[in-house]
Amino acid sequence: MKTIRFGIIGAGMMGHEFASAVARWCHMLDVDFRPEIVAVATRSASRFDWFRAHFSSIKQYTHDYHELIANDEVDAVYAAVPHHLHKEVCCAALTARKHLLAEKPLGIDMIANAAILNAWKECPDVLLRVASQWAFFPGAQRVCDAIERGAFGRIIEVNTGFLHSGDLDPNRPMNWKRQIEFNGEYGVLGDLGIHACFIPFRAGWLPRNVRAILSKIVSERPNASGGRSPCLTWDNATLLCEAKDNADGTRFPLTLKAHRIAPGERNSWYIEVYGTRASARFSTRDPKGLEWLDYTGGEQTWGRIQTGYETVFRTITGPNFEFGATDALLQMVVAFLFELVRGAPPCKFAGCMRPEETAVAHRLFTAALKSHANSTVEPVEA
Ligand SMILES: NC(=O)c1ccc[n+]([C@@H]2O[C@H](COP(=O)([O-])OP(=O)(O)OC[C@H]3O[C@@H](n4cnc5c(N)ncnc54)[C@H](O)[C@@H]3O)[C@@H](O)[C@H]2O)c1
Repeated sequence: MKTIRFGIIGAGMMGHEFASAVARWCHMLDVDFRPEIVAVATRSASRFDWFRAHFSSIKQYTHDYHELIANDEVDAVYAAVPHHLHKEVCCAALTARKHLLAEKPLGIDMIANAAILNAWKECPDVLLRVASQWAFFPGAQRVCDAIERGAFGRIIEVNTGFLHSGDLDPNRPMNWKRQIEFNGEYGVLGDLGIHACFIPFRAGWLPRNVRAILSKIVSERPNASGGRSPCLTWDNATLLCEAKDNADGTRFPLTLKAHRIAPGERNSWYIEVYGTRASARFSTRDPKGLEWLDYTGGEQTWGRIQTGYETVFRTITGPNFEFGATDALLQMVVAFLFELVRGAPPCKFAGCMRPEETAVAHRLFTAALKSHANSTVEPVEA
């Protein structure tokens, strides 16, 4: 059993989720590798308590992430810090030759993203991947499998997105994700948008241009001092792109929505693919349901398949149980380690997002900001 020793930088919501996935490693079957958390770096000391209570393997607790990166006992880093820190944390980890599973969007903007990719180019022996767990839902994997088999025929249209609704409440407190200096000019696109890019980009369906409409709906929120602060980030983004299928050169509309204010939608990541031979719709809103339509010339009938616990990486859970968000996260951590140990993912869509795919997302989001500002269709550079 090969052990990969991890340091976590940023012990917030996602730092806890990552650690919980690691703690559930006994869930996995057929793996000859395992992660071990040996170090945590975060800003506030109170965050250490939970880790101390649950992980005797952690020997280093620090407020200075540089100390974690300098630790020879750390082989790999999981970085889950606010977006304005992505560049400095990721570049420092890569320069120290630590394998890196970084949180999205890998840089607060296109310049930060390019700096991280440049740092990575200097260390080809280091694995850099970006968190993208939603495609591990069994329904999404079936869509991915159909893409790989060419089962859709010629692509007619693709819709993808990530919809939340918590921000409909104007009294939801302010946090860094709603502040431009920490979250970035992209607003919701940098936060939710990148998750929606994973399947289309991995499929080779790349945006050539974009017309974006962005909305700021709630203008201020309660702050920690009892007052209200301006909320300047984009709440919702709707992007209509002309996409090109790299496989056959055909073009089709690709719509991407990232909404923090989508009434009734709690955490709905979705993908819809319409093709000349088959069509499919999957959303985490209905995590077991995959809608499927085969077209062979006769009736056009949408069917509903109930997927089970069918995972890329085998687990102890039988096929009839339900699959959920934390299962997807565990699959993603396994995917990162699989690629680290074996050199490649087991199949095309069973990996984490590649840095060059995030670069396409940054070009798309930057063009989307311009498109909205000028009411224009903007090219997305290849
Ligand atoms: N994959 C997903 O589904 C998903 C979901 C939510 C957030 N995210 C991403 O994860 C990252 C973190 O988001 P979060 O929701 O966990 O945020 P969070 O606010 O819950 O946690 C961020 C943590 O970073 C720590 N931090 C701040 N400055 C630091 C520094 N200089 N050194 C070390 N730690 C520092 C904070 O103390 C905090 O604990 C972001 O990139 C976000 O986009 C991913």
